[in-house]
Amino acid sequence: MPEKAQKKLYIKTWGCQMNVYDSRRMADVLAPLGYRPVDTPDDADMIILNTCHIREKATDKVFSELGRLKEHRDQKKARGGKMLMAVAGCVAQAEGKFIMERAPYVDMVFGPQTYHELPQMVMKATGERVVNTDFPAESKFDALPQENDNQGVTAFLSVQEGCDKFCTFCVVPYTRGAEFSRPVSQIADEAKKLVESGAREITLLGQNVNAYHGTGKDGKSCNLGQLIAILAETDGLERIRYTTSHPRDMDQDLIDAHRDIAKLMPFLHLPIQSGSDAILKAMNRKHSADDYREIIAKIKKARPDIAMSSDFIVGFPGETDEDFEATMQIVRDVTYAFAYSFKYSPRPGTPAANMPMQIHEKVKTERIQRLQDLLNEQQLAFNRDMIGKRFDVLFDRKGAKDGQLHGRTPYNQAIHVKANPRLRGHTVPVDVTEANANSLTGNVAIF
Ligand code: 5AD
Ligand code: SF4
Repeated sequence: MPEKAQKKLYIKTWGCQMNVYDSRRMADVLAPLGYRPVDTPDDADMIILNTCHIREKATDKVFSELGRLKEHRDQKKARGGKMLMAVAGCVAQAEGKFIMERAPYVDMVFGPQTYHELPQMVMKATGERVVNTDFPAESKFDALPQENDNQGVTAFLSVQEGCDKFCTFCVVPYTRGAEFSRPVSQIADEAKKLVESGAREITLLGQNVNAYHGTGKDGKSCNLGQLIAILAETDGLERIRYTTSHPRDMDQDLIDAHRDIAKLMPFLHLPIQSGSDAILKAMNRKHSADDYREIIAKIKKARPDIAMSSDFIVGFPGETDEDFEATMQIVRDVTYAFAYSFKYSPRPGTPAANMPMQIHEKVKTERIQRLQDLLNEQQLAFNRDMIGKRFDVLFDRKGAKDGQLHGRTPYNQAIHVKANPRLRGHTVPVDVTEANANSLTGNVAIF
């Protein structure tokens, strides 16, 4: 039999871990057509730009990247070759038709709910241009092949997708659609396969992961705390994490899981966005700053060594100096090990984009600077506090320097350690010797 022709697939991924996960699944679904992932767009047979709609000027960025990628396509065309160009992800979902109009060289545009239909779209695109931004009745999770991850020591597993919360600044409910949870048995099977192929740590992913309510093996609804308890039984799996959570869905089962399940890491990303009740209300977050403080108190009682992380938005429409000070205050009260902070940026089609009292750019810049100074200070203090202490480190890859391995502490800090390469994939006690803002250094502990 002649060998199947190999085609080169270049995927460029922007945005969240959900997109990283989706890109891998796209590669999996295209593998039977002969596509294999490559690291550069030169000479690729197909390019997919997997886009993110969260950040400012998302659509503009897509067009400038497409312009750059088109040069590779033109060069290939000049050599008599052919290159399919596709735009996927949340910008594709939101701006599908516009992209097709403005970038006539793009062959395919498709949204996150349609990746399982990719092979058919690719077949079709060889003859005509394709736009697919449907929300099909059939779940893409049922139709996509099992994750075919190679030897990743840390892996992502998507358990939930979409969001019904409709925070007024956010495009996710529009681009990712209604909330959907995968059944427990599917997730448990995938976890087992990931561990068999080398994963020791699994991060459960979902836009609203703690709203998870999949069907259990007994046919009853299962929440995230219960799902974590089931997955913790997977032999060979050492660590479990989950992201991203909403404070409203931090239920007692999940809080208890932090107390009872040793494999669940003591690090929680729980975005609050703002410390002001007026702004939280305008954001439609459906909780107050004190509700959040109470949740944190409960979690800390269940798991005293837990470290917190969050997302913040400054300059939401109507945010006064007092509102912003309330955000600074919650940061001082909670103290974060890590955080993301953003200037509010209006997303077309979301309610906040049309709110009066949009905040001036200069004010946003001043506020984010102050917030980030405080958050960086806290992050550095948290990292420095590790010096002289011993932590279990999971080595996931080679380090930047020769003879070093890169690993993660339970708090998800990156750590560089001089260690035997055979320790990759193992969890080893490490004494922390140095700390800076973004990473630690340590030595394998001598017993
Ligand atoms: N402007 C600024 N930040 C935003 N985020 C989501 N939408 C916007 C927006 N319109 C931030 C939130 C969210 C994170 C993923 O991105 O903080 O938690
Ligand atoms: Fe967006 Fe998260 Fe709010 Fe859902 S809960 S609308 S994903 S910010």
